[in-house]
Amino acid sequence: MNFKKELAAILFELLEQEISADELELMVEKPKNASHGDLAFPCFTLAKLKRKSPNMIAQELSEKIQSPIFEQTEVVGAYLNLFLNKKLVSEKVVSEIITQTGHFGAHEFGGGGNVTIDMSSPNIAKPFSMGHLRSTVIGNALALIVEKCGYKPIKINHLGDWGTQFGKLITAYQLWGDAEQVKQNPIKELLALYIKFHKEAEIDSSLEDQGRSWFKRLEDGDEEALMLWQWFRDESLKEFSRIYELMNIQFDSYAGEAFYNDKMDRVVQLLEEQQLLVESDQAQVVELTDEQLPPCLIKKSDGATLYATRDLAAALYRKENYNFAKSLYVVGHEQSLHFKQLIAVLSKLGYPWAEKMVHVPFGMMLKDGKKMSTRKGKVVLLEEVLTESIAMARHNIEEKNPNLANKDEVAKQVGVGAVIFHDLKNNRMNDIEFSLEEMLRFEGETGPYVQYTFARGCSILRKGNWQADVPPANCHTTWEKEWKVISMLIEFPNAIQRACENLDPSQVAKYVVDLAQAFNKYYAEVKVLEESTEQPARLALVYSVTVVLKEGLRLLGIEAPEEM
Ligand code: ARG
Repeated sequence: MNFKKELAAILFELLEQEISADELELMVEKPKNASHGDLAFPCFTLAKLKRKSPNMIAQELSEKIQSPIFEQTEVVGAYLNLFLNKKLVSEKVVSEIITQTGHFGAHEFGGGGNVTIDMSSPNIAKPFSMGHLRSTVIGNALALIVEKCGYKPIKINHLGDWGTQFGKLITAYQLWGDAEQVKQNPIKELLALYIKFHKEAEIDSSLEDQGRSWFKRLEDGDEEALMLWQWFRDESLKEFSRIYELMNIQFDSYAGEAFYNDKMDRVVQLLEEQQLLVESDQAQVVELTDEQLPPCLIKKSDGATLYATRDLAAALYRKENYNFAKSLYVVGHEQSLHFKQLIAVLSKLGYPWAEKMVHVPFGMMLKDGKKMSTRKGKVVLLEEVLTESIAMARHNIEEKNPNLANKDEVAKQVGVGAVIFHDLKNNRMNDIEFSLEEMLRFEGETGPYVQYTFARGCSILRKGNWQADVPPANCHTTWEKEWKVISMLIEFPNAIQRACENLDPSQVAKYVVDLAQAFNKYYAEVKVLEESTEQPARLALVYSVTVVLKEGLRLLGIEAPEEM
């Protein structure tokens, strides 16, 4: 269903194979204005090659092209504009969707290769932040998108469960903690202890030393330290799991930073063997002057290892364990330098696969134009955001469709879908303004709008008694009025491919909004349910739209209720 490719193949033959089909395909454009056709071929390059005017080339091609998939060609200046054969193409795409259903739009270029996706990765004993939400949502969508393109995604939650902060936390707990309170409200209590530690440490400088020595004990496997750490970790994970469950997100691995504790000596040894470790300010670092980066810290003076060391060990482990074709890190852009250093150190160690590692950065979540912070009491608890969104969705349902059968289930699908869609609809590098009202609107570019359009499609199909397994045998229609929607359906595989290549789920989010808009416009203009010879074809179109909307939403990690 790739008409750019088909046109390129036809031109390749006509031009006696002077230019490769791949190159020709890259030249084919999709006109912005539909009155200029469905495809356009600019003839400038050929004109240079053949020393003729571009217009002449376009004329020649226009006369020679003969293919049933084009019903008309037109020459405008240097351009050859082509109009697809609406009947042939429409019937082809609709019957393809009917037979393939959710599989429509799939690609195979991933070739079964593994893609590890480092995503979510919240820090133990701290609230799940908006940044972690973005990482979770973007990572999950990327997993679904790369899978649709033939890769095998491996979702890894690189939990922040190790580091000097745990030494501080243990110190604070020993001094001021209360087991009962922690049990009742783990993250809140642990966060309070952590904040208290920092406040007290401003006055009592010995606290920092105590913190360091507790972390050292933890790294050396001290029983008491480990027990407390394990307890904090378990309690935190319980809270995080509630959020993942609400969002219907699963991981293939929870190997967090602590998992690499016994794998870091090897990293240090590898660096030493290649004489990459140097002493600087009482710490061991890898100099990255040639790469124009600041040195990468590997080991502190007391022997404690660092975030970067654990990431080096993790990268080696992932390569050896999963032999990835690509290794993605969905982490906020403020960590760009860290990932540049990580990749640079691995390249210095001589690993060619370092090139397959990609930091997938994203912008911040803002509230009233300011960063949403988890410190200083300004905590925005993600769980609250989700439950509030679900409650608002529930309220909307009560107003719009009070007789709906499974209101709670639908409210959850809509409320959570709204939060996810709001995150994914913009290019991931953009900062996004947090607004529940905006997310939950039923019009405009929102999750509920797309879900609502899907539900409307389903309702039309129910009323029209559509039988999904019966493709329209004889379509008595020219597909003229349907053409805008059809040309959107044709685009679905391309949107998925772009999303995969650019690691950008917004390509799919924008696509489903555009399709929903085109469909709603069509539905306002054409009486789909009216008895007519065209009705079967129209219902087939409605069905195709529902299949693609549902699959598009699925790729974003959003469910599609059939009624709402
Ligand atoms: N836990 C880290 C943080 O919250 C993010 C970890 C990202 N992944 C990684 N492999 N470094 O900042």
